[in-house]
Amino acid sequence: MTTRDSAPSKPGTTAPAHSDGRLVTCDGVGRTFGAGERAVVALHGVTCAVEPGARVALTGPSGSGKSTLLQLMAGLDRPTSGVLDWPVWTGTPFGHPERAGVVFQEPSLIPSLTALENAAFPLLVRGDEPESALEEAAAALRILGLTPIERHTPDELSGGQAQRVAVARVMCSRPALILADEPTGKLDRHNGALVVDQLVTAAAHVGAGLVIATHDPAIARLLDQRWALRDGEMAG
Ligand SMILES: Nc1ncnc2c1ncn2[C@@H]1O[C@H](COP(=O)(O)OP(=O)(O)O)[C@@H](O)[C@H]1O
Ligand SMILES: [Mg+2]
Repeated sequence: MTTRDSAPSKPGTTAPAHSDGRLVTCDGVGRTFGAGERAVVALHGVTCAVEPGARVALTGPSGSGKSTLLQLMAGLDRPTSGVLDWPVWTGTPFGHPERAGVVFQEPSLIPSLTALENAAFPLLVRGDEPESALEEAAAALRILGLTPIERHTPDELSGGQAQRVAVARVMCSRPALILADEPTGKLDRHNGALVVDQLVTAAAHVGAGLVIATHDPAIARLLDQRWALRDGEMAG
């Protein structure tokens, strides 16, 4: 079974969850950087699972292991102990989350492109026809209330607007799992809350699970579930 077939044709349509399977499971997952005296244990045997449709805040102070866990769940890094699995992708050509979308603290927009072109960028890179890519990006921007700024370049956007365009960009690639690492870290409370709201909206439209790493308890309260990391251990 593949999960690709269940993707909706447009971001504007309300999508079902991609599958009944869990998006990612961590069973006693550990990650140690380096070896010997210099070894840094970033994660100690973390066990958790992201269910379809989940809205999770991954909380914890700086250095507690949030980014390390997100990188592992995105398939960008490998655990040094334990088992990490993506049941929803089992049997797909990759068997790992080729369809996870990642949002970072910095929106990293391309300065010479408009908001619309930035949102369409992942689709253009993968070879979609420009017309359909721009149409899809315009739909994502419309859903997120960003149509008025679609012709603006990044230097004409506020930090909050730029991050919302980054959310539109991740939404365009219709991931089954959206992982955001401190996406509100550079924003004030109001704009941070707006970005979280947009991530939730984007996840709902594409039927994705959502995990947001944040050290801000006020941001974490906006989500359904909270996981707390302390010194590389899941505290609850
Ligand atoms: N590539 C790396 N090499 C060595 N140590 C690392 C590396 N990445 C993270 N660490 C260490 O792992 C711990 C957890 O880091 P991180 O996951 O970035 O925490 P957080 O995102 O919660 O701030 C920290 O002690 C950090 O210094
Ligand atoms: Mg971090």
